[in-house]
Amino acid sequence: MQTYGCQMNVADSDWLDRSLKSAGFVKTISEEQADFFIINTCSVREKPEQKVYSHLGRLKEFHEKNPSVFACVGGCVAQQVGKGFFERFPYVRLVFGPDGLAMVPGSLQRLENNQHLKISLLDFEDHYPERIENWPDKMPPQAFVNIMQGCDNFCAYCVVPYTRGRQKSRSSEEIIRECSKLISLGVLEITLLGQNVNSYGLDRNGQEINFARLLRKIDGLHGLNRLRFTTSHPKDMSREVIEAFGELETLCSHLHLPLQSGSDNILKNMGRKYNRERYLELVKGLRKANPDITLSTDLIVGFPGETDHDFQQTLDIMNTVGFDSSFSFKYSDRPGVRSSLMTPKISQQVKSERLDILQKLQEEWTAGKLAQRIGGRDQVLIEGPSKKQKSGVWSWQGRDRGGRVVNIDFKTREDFTGRIFEVKFIRSKKHSLEGEVVT
Ligand code: SAH
Ligand code: SF4
Ligand code: F3S
Repeated sequence: MQTYGCQMNVADSDWLDRSLKSAGFVKTISEEQADFFIINTCSVREKPEQKVYSHLGRLKEFHEKNPSVFACVGGCVAQQVGKGFFERFPYVRLVFGPDGLAMVPGSLQRLENNQHLKISLLDFEDHYPERIENWPDKMPPQAFVNIMQGCDNFCAYCVVPYTRGRQKSRSSEEIIRECSKLISLGVLEITLLGQNVNSYGLDRNGQEINFARLLRKIDGLHGLNRLRFTTSHPKDMSREVIEAFGELETLCSHLHLPLQSGSDNILKNMGRKYNRERYLELVKGLRKANPDITLSTDLIVGFPGETDHDFQQTLDIMNTVGFDSSFSFKYSDRPGVRSSLMTPKISQQVKSERLDILQKLQEEWTAGKLAQRIGGRDQVLIEGPSKKQKSGVWSWQGRDRGGRVVNIDFKTREDFTGRIFEVKFIRSKKHSLEGEVVT
């Protein structure tokens, strides 16, 4: 199985993995041994969408060697292109959208029993589709929990409301039940997932608690160490949620708050429903609630009509806020979204130049912010071995409560995954910190 896209897609793939395993399917070590392939796709920009087609093209050779080998395409491109995949790639026998996921394990069994069958699972449901869980005996220390599906915001550039459908909040009872179960299986850190978590519950006509109440309830669960959530839309960020950053013990001091642009004019054309001033007010409130909070964001360069002045406004607000990190993208036209009809389009060259300037500025801020941490202390949850290993020591990688990557050298050879240490930061790199355990 190959997964592209956001954390919601990663969480969907994790669920599928567990379900297929408990249904008796076995993951093969090499591609040559596989009876079928699953690709979970993303269509948020052109690039991840193109990757799906080249990936499928590559699978042709396996089908040619053994005609019973087939491919399954899920996620956001599948929802958009649908049965078109059957025509373009004859060895695709299953397409499924985000709401069809729950039916995939059963469908795979049907496909294996009937070689002439093709199945498409593309319907949207009007409520959050609960899935049957097959939990293993022990879970890794970190887990995602879906709290909603879909999005109602229709930002001018974004395909997500079309691929994931309308916002559907999951019942808070189910969410709490899942969180409690995960904690009992060894999970220490939970990340709540949704396209716009701040509007959690608003689609349930007063029948559900709001996001701030949900955070409070989960924070109160015994045994949880860290709580995070993503993604937040600035327009729905309530005072209660901001204050939670200063009040809730488990809520980590990090917020990803997508800004997209620093220009009021562009924000208006994007349909984001906030302006610079409102965004800066939110930042002020967050820093007041928790002075240690780290802030990350998403930015788009080259939205139709973006002038040099608009772009300068983005650089300007980046310097005002001083983000700890950011993801930045070149604007990409998506089929059916409002901005695909907006003009003038910005040339590839200008987009590349702007992206480059913006990313260099972010690198400076990131390095500067990390350097400020030297000498400080925080708790680090170990996630796994570091990518780079030195001789004579064993390096492990984790994150502090602000979400910064921290590498720590240990003298003994032991599996430290899931352990939490009090750490002093001794050095900073471009994107990470080095620390030592305080004993
Ligand atoms: N729900 C999240 C974002 C999901 S998409 C939110 O509202 O913040 C993740 C990011 O992809 C967005 O924040 C945006 O920066 C980027 N993105 C979305 N559509 C895009 C497009 N058409 N071109 C370039 N970047 C895009
Ligand atoms: Fe897309 Fe906007 Fe919804 Fe985020 S809030 S998923 S950017 S439409
Ligand atoms: Fe991509 Fe769909 Fe997520 S378009 S970003 S996988 S919601």
